[in-house]
Amino acid sequence: MENYRLFLSAFCAAAITGSLSIIFVLIWVLHYREGLAWDGGSAEFNWHPVLMVAGLIFLQGTAIIIFRLPWTWACNKQVMKWIHACLHLLAFTLTVISTVAVFDFHNTAKIPNMYSLHSWLGIAAVILYCLQIVVGVVLYLIPITPVSWRAAFMPVHVFFGTLLFVGIISVALMGITEKLIFALKSPKYSQSPPEALFVNVLGVLLVAFGAIVVYTVTRVSWKRPNDQVLHSLHTDEVGEDNGKVGPKKTTTQDSEMRGNI
Ligand code: HEM
Ligand code: HEM
Repeated sequence: MENYRLFLSAFCAAAITGSLSIIFVLIWVLHYREGLAWDGGSAEFNWHPVLMVAGLIFLQGTAIIIFRLPWTWACNKQVMKWIHACLHLLAFTLTVISTVAVFDFHNTAKIPNMYSLHSWLGIAAVILYCLQIVVGVVLYLIPITPVSWRAAFMPVHVFFGTLLFVGIISVALMGITEKLIFALKSPKYSQSPPEALFVNVLGVLLVAFGAIVVYTVTRVSWKRPNDQVLHSLHTDEVGEDNGKVGPKKTTTQDSEMRGNI
């Protein structure tokens, strides 16, 4: 691997900022807020930030960089795809529970649903994330999909996956700011009480985690060795996989490549 030291530093920084984000959100709800419960009250709402940070941010980020870990390159690509897909599915499950928690809290407290920009962009992100999983499973896990379809769709999958990840971090930052403005009354958010400073740091950690993950997945030289070859085939040559989208006759080479894409 090129520049292994830099990769290792990025990996450690992602692991540290990601784990700290989960620790910070837990300290926020358990120490500064009402704790966690499933009772329709504020403690139920608190599942929302905890599960979003742990699932949609930490697990999604882990799923995204899983192909880049050099220790996994000896593993079969098919196994890695299952791990990538299962991590996304687990993240999605936590997201659903987190969304139910906030709707249930709103309904019990008779607070209107879906009025804020945070909630609009949040629900759009959840729906698009679900769509990305469905398309990902159909294209890359079901063994009958033609190789040309898989290859043609891969840049779209990577682009939308990265866009969703960045978008979701922005949505979380909006949610955090909103919650601090709603919850801090005396002293107010603008008076910078310890909780406000602590949670601002959580926001900074989320941005740092996101930046490191995006940096890692956008470096072509850190791809799995086989994928680097495929990448140059798709970018240097006007390969037929890039241009033609549609089923084609399956050859032995196709079925060998299917496991790799
Ligand atoms: C509400 C999504 C993270 C705070 C909502 C709602 C959705 C949503 C769909 C609307 C629920 C309803 O109208 O009943 C998301 C997504 C996140 C995220 C996709 C991804 C990371 C966070 C975080 C916080 C937060 C980290 C921090 C506390 C809030 C608050 C509400 C809310 C205060 C209620 C007010 C409102 O509807 O805007 N969220 N959320 N969210 N969320 Fe988030
Ligand atoms: C690669 C995101 C679901 C299969 C990627 C990459 C991203 C991404 C950002 C680029 C990673 C890299 O270049 O190292 C997502 C998101 C998903 C999702 C956000 C869910 C919402 C799935 C599912 C599958 C899948 C369900 C089914 C197996 C793949 C494959 C790659 C990939 C095969 C290729 C990795 C490579 O060869 O470089 N995904 N993905 N993805 N994803 Fe997904």
